[in-house]
Amino acid sequence: MPKVKVIHGPNLNLLGKREVSVYGMATLDHINEAMKAMAGRLGLELSVVQTNSESGIIDEIQAADYDLLIINPAAYTHTSIAIRDAISAVGKPVIEVHLSNIHRREEFRRRSYIAEVALGQISGFGPGSYMLALRAAAKILLEGTPHKA
Ligand code: DQA
Repeated sequence: MPKVKVIHGPNLNLLGKREVSVYGMATLDHINEAMKAMAGRLGLELSVVQTNSESGIIDEIQAADYDLLIINPAAYTHTSIAIRDAISAVGKPVIEVHLSNIHRREEFRRRSYIAEVALGQISGFGPGSYMLALRAAAKILLEGTPHKA
């Protein structure tokens, strides 16, 4: 079974309590449970981690124990060349995910250092962003849908 790893970045452990008007009421456990159920239905093996540290994210990327990575780097999206370089170095397919639409918030959130090394970005659908990413992952890994246009 193809392996998909999900990395949740800093502060996402606070989902459900944090800025609910932006991020919604769902907790991270809730989102992870929904993803596990969907991955099972799609025929994907899923592992999920959350870390508040940049080095923790980089270590998880470098572990390369996955066929495709779904990552919400949270605030590091907008700052971390180190995470971008780790993705490039490992060379595995990556889908970037955001709960909120980063393009209709503050100006500084529009810049993603990750987008240029990701297959694509899903942003703005709340927990549904992760579900859409899983569907895209299944298409790529199980149906061989080309990643590049
Ligand atoms: C986020 C958007 C980021 O700008 C923010 O720093 C986050 C969460 C999202 O999922 O919408 O922490 O990645």
